[in-house]
Amino acid sequence: MACDLRRGTAATYAYTEDEVPTVEAEFHAAQKAGLPVRLGTDIDLPFEVHAAVLLDDQLTLHPVKYLQGLASAVDGDGSRIYEHSRVLDVTGRRLSTADGEVHFDRIVLATHYPLLDRGLFFARLKTPRSYAVAARLDGPPPSALAISAGSPSWSISAYGDQLIVCGQSHETGKKVVEPYRRLEEFARRHWPVQEITHRWSAQDPTAYDHLPMIGSYTPGSTTMFTATGYMKWGLSSGTFAGTLLADLVTGKPHDLAERFSPHRLSLKSVPTLVKKNAEVAVEMIGDRIMPADATNSDKLPPDHAHVIRDGLGKTGVYRDPDGQLHAVSMRCTHLGCMVRFNAAERSWDCPCHGSRFDVDGTVLEGPATKPLPRREPK
Ligand code: FES
Repeated sequence: MACDLRRGTAATYAYTEDEVPTVEAEFHAAQKAGLPVRLGTDIDLPFEVHAAVLLDDQLTLHPVKYLQGLASAVDGDGSRIYEHSRVLDVTGRRLSTADGEVHFDRIVLATHYPLLDRGLFFARLKTPRSYAVAARLDGPPPSALAISAGSPSWSISAYGDQLIVCGQSHETGKKVVEPYRRLEEFARRHWPVQEITHRWSAQDPTAYDHLPMIGSYTPGSTTMFTATGYMKWGLSSGTFAGTLLADLVTGKPHDLAERFSPHRLSLKSVPTLVKKNAEVAVEMIGDRIMPADATNSDKLPPDHAHVIRDGLGKTGVYRDPDGQLHAVSMRCTHLGCMVRFNAAERSWDCPCHGSRFDVDGTVLEGPATKPLPRREPK
């Protein structure tokens, strides 16, 4: 098919004995939800699996081809797609980009992490970041679509003749310990890897109760909508969000509108919310008294970064492989937390709401819309 659609058995497996109870709990929860799951260990993996919950007939597809298909269905008949047009602000019925304004009657702000804090999303979303490697093997890749139940998790799939291993998740802006090396080691431990051909990473907002948030941007709004919190299930949840939002935007009722409402709040979630917001408060205040690494960058080796005190603020300095220094303010332009260097991606990442910046300060991921101000390297 056009987006390489195929069906296979999805497995959540126990990589260690300790993970068996989690697998069993998932089996019982899935059964209770009416899914036709089964327990077993018949998975195409080259290591011992202690238990697994299996769900047959699950879809995989090529995400870029799928999106290209959707995009070509949108374009025309009064609809247009504009790329490279980052939305910077929304005021009244007008949104602004760097190059112009758009006036609207209704809008869906699906900017990954919500751009504006009018719905208090910043208090209710986390932003885990994960890594992936693709490897060419001596022999065929496994047919399994499998993810381990523990932490760190090891997610295994294939594309064409390549193995894909994902994992090493952490909250954006927190310490990263050589995620690509660990994934590569895992792949080489279990398969005859010829070469690692690709590596990449991604992050996705996750709601405090793990359910996507799809609906009005503020309670009762009939002009502004959003969809976020896909928890790395954006292909399925984003597709579902499209069907739900199509009804909401045109004023039709939908059976699941309440369940996915961004404004739901359960008592069970209160401790998680309190913890998350206490963590953000610590990041906002605590980082300002953290010591800087150095007073100048003379001895900074290539492809390394450090922090320099700069009056009352701090400057993040990165020396690129050609020896050139790049210095930026470390104060996140979203709400002012201190960014941290992610050596795996060579970016400055914010621990509060997941904004990310290139070494020259350019915005890589929101909710920040403004770059980190550049500084003169010392
Ligand atoms: Fe919110 Fe940085 S992303 S303060």
